Amino acid sequence: MISQQSESPRLEDWSKVRQYNPMKVLITGGGGFLGSHLAEKYLLLGAYVVCVDNFSTGLRQNKDLLLSLAGADKNLMFLEKDIVEPWEPWCGFLPAGFDFVFHFASPASPVHYQRLGLETMWANTLGLSRALGFADKRGARVVFASTSEVYGDPEFSPQPESYWGHVNSFGPRSCYDESKRFGEALVYTHNLKNKTRHGLVRIFNTYGPRMDPNDGRVIINFLTQAQQGGPLTIYGDGKQTRSFCFVDDLIAAIQSYAKLDCTEPMNIGNDCEFSILEAAQTVQKIFSDRELKIEFQDFNIDDPKQRRPDLTIARKLLSPWSPAVSLEQGLRQMLGSLGL
Ligand SMILES: NC(=O)c1ccc[n+]([C@@H]2O[C@H](COP(=O)([O-])OP(=O)(O)OC[C@H]3O[C@@H](n4cnc5c(N)ncnc54)[C@H](O)[C@@H]3O)[C@@H](O)[C@H]2O)c1
Repeated sequence: MISQQSESPRLEDWSKVRQYNPMKVLITGGGGFLGSHLAEKYLLLGAYVVCVDNFSTGLRQNKDLLLSLAGADKNLMFLEKDIVEPWEPWCGFLPAGFDFVFHFASPASPVHYQRLGLETMWANTLGLSRALGFADKRGARVVFASTSEVYGDPEFSPQPESYWGHVNSFGPRSCYDESKRFGEALVYTHNLKNKTRHGLVRIFNTYGPRMDPNDGRVIINFLTQAQQGGPLTIYGDGKQTRSFCFVDDLIAAIQSYAKLDCTEPMNIGNDCEFSILEAAQTVQKIFSDRELKIEFQDFNIDDPKQRRPDLTIARKLLSPWSPAVSLEQGLRQMLGSLGL
C-alpha cells in the first residue's frame, strides 16, 4: 500500500502538473549517488521527477536533500519501492505520459554488489524489464545505466564501445558484470521486437558528493581514510589504472544522451587515466598538512588492471560535451561537501 502521507500524489497535485505540462522523468535508484544528482538537475530544469528507491544502498540523506530543494514540494515524488517487485500497485497513480525513465537502481560498488549479489542480478534484469514495460505504456525513452564493467579485465586500453569485453561469468564480480551485460542485451532485443528506441550508457568510474563513505569505491575510500589521517589502502601493487569522472560531467552527458534518438551503447566518463598509486598521490597533494602512508593489500579477484574510456562517440554525438573537471579539482569540490 502506498502511504498517502508521504508518497502518493494527491489529485490536485496532478492537475497542477497537467496545467503547466512539464517534462516528466522517472528515476529508479533516485536516492543513490548518481540518481539523486540526476533528479536534482531535472528539478532545476523545472521537470516533474519521480524517484523510486528501496534504499538498499542509497543514503537516506539524499532523499532529504532532494525534498529540501526549491520546487521539490510541487515537482518531486519519492516512492520507497523495490523496482524488482511488480510496479502495478503504485504506478497507476502516476501521470499517463513520461519523457524519460532512467533505470539506475542497482548496487554499484563491489562491497555492496557482493553483499547483495542476487538483488543486483534481479535489479538489472527483471527490474529493467519492468522499467521498459512501464516506459512503453507511458511513451517514455529508457536510459539504462550500464557500466564499464561489461568490458571486464580488458586486453587493451582505451576501451571503445565495439570491444566485446573479457569477462569472467563465474566469479565474485559476475553478478554485477554479467547482469549489466544481460541488461544491455535486453535493451537491444526489446527494441528489436517492439520497435522502441531505448538506450544505454556505459558509465566509467564516477565520483563526487553524496557517495556513501562506506561503499568501498576507491576515491571515497581514499578521502575518508585521508580525513582520518590514513593510511590509504591500495589493493595490489597500485599499477592498475582507472579513469575518474566528476559527477557533474557525467550527468551533463547522460542528459544529452537521453535527448538523442540513439539506441547504441555510449561510453561516458573521463579519459584521463591514472594508476591507483597516482590517484593516492593526488589525494596526498590535497591533504598537504599531513603525511599519508600507503598500505598495500592483496589484489581483489578479477579486479580490472586497466580502465579508460574511448570517448570518440560521446564527443561526436554529444558535442560540445567533453569531461571538464580534473581529478584534483573534483576532489577539492568533493572535500567541501564532506565538510573537510
Ligand atoms: N558510480 C559509478 O561510478 C558507476 C559506474 C558504472 C555504473 N554505475 C551504475 O549507475 C547506477 C547508479 O550507481 P550509483 O553509483 O549511484 O550507486 P548507488 O548505490 O549510490 O545508487 C543505486 C541506488 O539504487 C537503489 N536500489 C538498488 N536496488 C534497488 C531496487 N531493487 N529497488 C529500488 N532501488 C534500488 C539503491 O538503494 C541506491 O539508492 C547503478 O546502476 C550502477 O551500476 C555507476
